[in-house]
Amino acid sequence: MIIRPKRGEEAHPVSLLLSADPSWALVEAYLARGECFVAELGGEVIGVYVLVPTGPGTAEIKNIAVAEELQGQGIGKQLVRHAVETARERGYVQLEIGTGNSSLSQLALYQKCGFRIVGVEPDFFVRHYPEAIYENGLWCRDMIRLAMAL
Ligand code: ACO
Ligand code: ACO
Repeated sequence: MIIRPKRGEEAHPVSLLLSADPSWALVEAYLARGECFVAELGGEVIGVYVLVPTGPGTAEIKNIAVAEELQGQGIGKQLVRHAVETARERGYVQLEIGTGNSSLSQLALYQKCGFRIVGVEPDFFVRHYPEAIYENGLWCRDMIRLAMAL
């Protein structure tokens, strides 16, 4: 497997991006401001992340996804580590990531990769998404914010 920048002429991996974020309007907005990286295996794009500058010295992983049939095999961890290295190389001093209160395995993954919980945006998903989101039997309402010093 290789992780590389998405080439300019290459289509965005839309279904992967939507698996991490059901709002195409939000996805399009951060794709326009950020850099899209893809994981390629056997000529197929099977993973993605988007790194977006969000403030002085700060970048955020706005979207990260692995093809469903390949989840749970360490690819997500490799994508997060690649994002950390890339952000460091770009000279950022802080990397952030946010996820839903209901995203229990994502919260585990990000903390295993070195992120710490630094805050909560209550009702973020209620305000920004037209449909209610449920996951692990929980209503996804609040955005849990995590950060890592680089
Ligand atoms: N308790 C403890 N650890 C857990 C738990 C849990 N309940 N659930 C998962 N983990 C750990 C696993 O044990 C593993 O760590 P380990 O290697 O130390 O055992 C890690 O979390 C999962 O690692 P990977 O196998 O590398 O993850 P995967 O390849 O499945 O990718 C991802 C994770 C990207 C979240 C994938 O499941 C996915 O694409 N999901 C759908 C899209 C999505 O939800 N994206 C994130 C949205 S938030 C955002 O984009 C900013
Ligand atoms: N994803 C989704 N739901 C989950 C998950 C998960 N990963 N893990 C647990 N749950 C849900 C279960 O599905 C269940 O909900 P449901 O009935 O809707 O399915 C619920 O959490 C667990 O409910 P119970 O079976 O009633 O819980 P239990 O009798 O096991 O008691 C307790 C929980 C008190 C935490 C027990 O496990 C315990 O004593 N643990 C050790 C001591 C401890 O950790 N105490 C809490 C410390 S914090 C404090 O004291 C303030």
